[in-house]
Amino acid sequence: MSKTKVSEVNRVWRLHNRPIGDLSDDTLGFDEEAIPEPGAGEFLFRLNYLSLDPTNIIWMKDVDQYMPPVGLNEPMRGVVCGTVVKSNHPDYAEGMLVSGLGQWADYQLGTPGMLSPMGDTGPIPVADAFSTLALVGPTAYFGLLDIGEPKAGETVVVSAAAGAVGSIVGQIAKIKGCRVVGLAGSDEKCEWIKNDLGFDAAINYRTEDLSKALKAACPDGIDVYFDNVGGKILDACLKLMNLKGRIPTCGLISQYRATEPVPGPYNYEMLLMQRVRIEGFIVLDYADRYPEAIAALGQWMAEGKIKVRTEIVDGLEHALQALKKLYTGENTGKLMVRVKDV
Ligand SMILES: NC(=O)c1ccc[n+]([C@@H]2O[C@H](COP(=O)([O-])OP(=O)(O)OC[C@H]3O[C@@H](n4cnc5c(N)ncnc54)[C@H](OP(=O)(O)O)[C@@H]3O)[C@@H](O)[C@H]2O)c1
Repeated sequence: MSKTKVSEVNRVWRLHNRPIGDLSDDTLGFDEEAIPEPGAGEFLFRLNYLSLDPTNIIWMKDVDQYMPPVGLNEPMRGVVCGTVVKSNHPDYAEGMLVSGLGQWADYQLGTPGMLSPMGDTGPIPVADAFSTLALVGPTAYFGLLDIGEPKAGETVVVSAAAGAVGSIVGQIAKIKGCRVVGLAGSDEKCEWIKNDLGFDAAINYRTEDLSKALKAACPDGIDVYFDNVGGKILDACLKLMNLKGRIPTCGLISQYRATEPVPGPYNYEMLLMQRVRIEGFIVLDYADRYPEAIAALGQWMAEGKIKVRTEIVDGLEHALQALKKLYTGENTGKLMVRVKDV
């Protein structure tokens, strides 16, 4: 048993009301509670970073989804990075960094099924390793390479391209020799993905005529459309899909706050006409292959071939307000909360 003194109160975000449409200030409550004691085979860890993810709002809703929704009054679920402070598990020593599925709480109990040791992150700072390697990097890697199957010379289009997943997708596609076009919601984001990340073209979908701009940016059509958003952007991309094109469906963020049924894509017939394959995926499906993605992404990051941008909000108390940024497009790169520096 460890001798670490843990004397603070635990602050825990709990789901108080399921959101209807947008998040509201009373969706979650920020409660003060006793710090839990680890039982046999468990460890207690202190939160360092909390990843904020578009899927958080899905987990709050009682709708069909890929995991059980968070129960009312339960702690909010999140992807976390923390430091073990007490342990009753031989493989999780005090001081060890862990990451995986946890809670929006200062202190929480962990078990090996939910959290894995992060190991030595080498030249990559812990914040960058967590922001990129824990979730969004593997999502980009498997979605693009396994489902998108890009080939050198092909045209890859990605939406939410200045976001966490999209910015990595575009950079992997460049590494694979593709022509890469990104869609983003501001001129600053478009400049960043073109000038700093090496995308071939960028379209501000909020201000430009989307169909016209896409046609101009993809003179040879689209071979892979990596879909992070669904809705009108999916429709516009469907129209330009090439024969045997591929669409990895990664996310549908334009629909996550919908209060009415969302109509299907109008250009659905293109799947038939162009023999296009569209396939949804959840990164958790690839859990047994994470080491492959982490090794490749880590190497590309160390070589400077993949650049990472994190947008860090300080203080667990700001997590709910910060989460709203994802749905309004106020973030660039990976949004996360820093609770305590490593
Ligand atoms: N399948 C999986 O396993 C998996 C794993 C992780 C993430 N995802 C999905 O991947 C997508 C991106 O996630 P992320 O973590 O990388 O978030 P992110 O891209 O860093 O942030 C979300 C971005 O979405 C864009 N957006 C918001 N509302 C939009 C709308 N109505 N139309 C078009 N764009 C909109 C905004 O950028 P703009 O300013 O450019 O609009 C915003 O910055 C999400 O759909 C998420 O659910 C899936």
